[in-house]
Amino acid sequence: MDKLDREIPLCNLDDLEEQQAIELTIDDRRLFAIRQDNQLHAYWNICPHLGIPLNWAPNKFLDLDNALIQCSSHGALFHIDSGKCIAGPCTGQRLQPVTLRAAEKDYFVAADQTLPAAPLNLREQALADLEDS
Ligand code: FES
Repeated sequence: MDKLDREIPLCNLDDLEEQQAIELTIDDRRLFAIRQDNQLHAYWNICPHLGIPLNWAPNKFLDLDNALIQCSSHGALFHIDSGKCIAGPCTGQRLQPVTLRAAEKDYFVAADQTLPAAPLNLREQALADLEDS
């Protein structure tokens, strides 16, 4: 497994409103962070159901009530603060957390953490299959 060999700036807490998300891609791995109760909660953008990205649009990860993370594919719902799935096909599983380091209100993706495998991109795969046929 690859390890992150450097610390990477993510954002300042004041860059985000409450319940707002930010995305970042590091070495082809996508992560997102959501501000809730003046903290950032960060996860790799991989749904535990099928291993594909969760969001339905850039920086859009939450359900209509802005209370839970919702997977755009099959609707699994996750707690923002724990990443635990509480409804849907992967109930009981968890999103993979990203370790952050905070310096005052500046947040960084911490170095020396293990990177997940790059997620599948079913859309790109389908387009590639079409081109090959
Ligand atoms: S891929 Fe996320 S719920 Fe199915």
